[in-house]
Amino acid sequence: MAIILGIESSCDDTSASICIDGKICSNIIAGQLVHQNYGGVIPELASRVHQQNIIPAVHEAISVAKIHKNDIDAVAFTRGPGLLGSLLVGTSFAKAFALANGLPLIEVNHMQAHILAHFIEENKPEFPFLCLTVSGGHTQIVLVRDYFDMEIVGQTTDDAAGEAFDKTAKLLGLPYPGGPLIDKYAKLGNKEAFKFPEPQISGLDFSFSGLKTSIMYFVRDRLKENPDFLKENLNDVCASVQDRIISILLNKMKKASVQYQIKTIAIAGGVSANSRLRAALHETADLLNWDVYIPKFEYCTDNAAMIAIAGYHKYLNNDFIGQDIAPLARLKF
Ligand code: KG4
Ligand code: ZN
Repeated sequence: MAIILGIESSCDDTSASICIDGKICSNIIAGQLVHQNYGGVIPELASRVHQQNIIPAVHEAISVAKIHKNDIDAVAFTRGPGLLGSLLVGTSFAKAFALANGLPLIEVNHMQAHILAHFIEENKPEFPFLCLTVSGGHTQIVLVRDYFDMEIVGQTTDDAAGEAFDKTAKLLGLPYPGGPLIDKYAKLGNKEAFKFPEPQISGLDFSFSGLKTSIMYFVRDRLKENPDFLKENLNDVCASVQDRIISILLNKMKKASVQYQIKTIAIAGGVSANSRLRAALHETADLLNWDVYIPKFEYCTDNAAMIAIAGYHKYLNNDFIGQDIAPLARLKF
């Protein structure tokens, strides 16, 4: 039997999870409301709240899984990428916990873990598959050949998809994180109401900064004409912007599927919680005969269950690291 404690603290969620023989038995997530009015995560505030939350989150994860601290066989933690101060809290906790309890340590790449969240559920994708990983800091198309054999074949050259949602929300006067709110208002709006440009970027890479600028000018000009424009049109603006972000993402996935001749398509990361993206992916799958994999909501945004499952697969490979490990804000794979 293998019992893995997973720790995640790369951004603004402190999370701990227990995985027993590949099955997730707890996944405790302590979010941070402190960033709401700033339009984005304030790194210094995030690390302070991680420090307050990490010990209670681990206690709760152990208690919900109905195990004892001494039953744990290894500690997996997010080494990066992420905010350095935030990563430092999780890494230091994991190292101290492992040292004090004589346990092996397992480093996990946060972006790989988002993809490996697909291996929590019974219905798992078969290798090779293409994964669109869309989060607050990253937008990647990843060719996944095996658990830890992954290649980034396309990525954003500027803003991430989650950032496009969050920055749009800020322009519309909505609090952080804006993605879930745009999703909510878009459900009541008309996606054809306004047209935003699709960036002309070749290959499988993405660009969202031009879209952000066009939304900025659009909002500025409409407010000049009518100061109540946003009050009157919020749902339609949200639906139109969301539709453009999703079409940018899916057009590149269609291209990747043709280029690599792969029809097993997955999505991962915080933006994969978007209800319209999930529906649009199913619609595209029906048209193009794709076999699609979409994680449960709780495994889309940051969580330690994905770290614990990634840790479990590394544990099976005896892939451990020493105590001299340090977090890396820009960890690659
Ligand atoms: O993966 P994640 O929790 O953290 C990072 O690793 O960055 O992703 C957070 C991002 C934020 O930009 C948030 O606005 C976005 O995911 N997000 C959404 C939705 N839920 C979260 N974006 C669109 N629609 C949603 N329902
Ligand atoms: Zn993430």
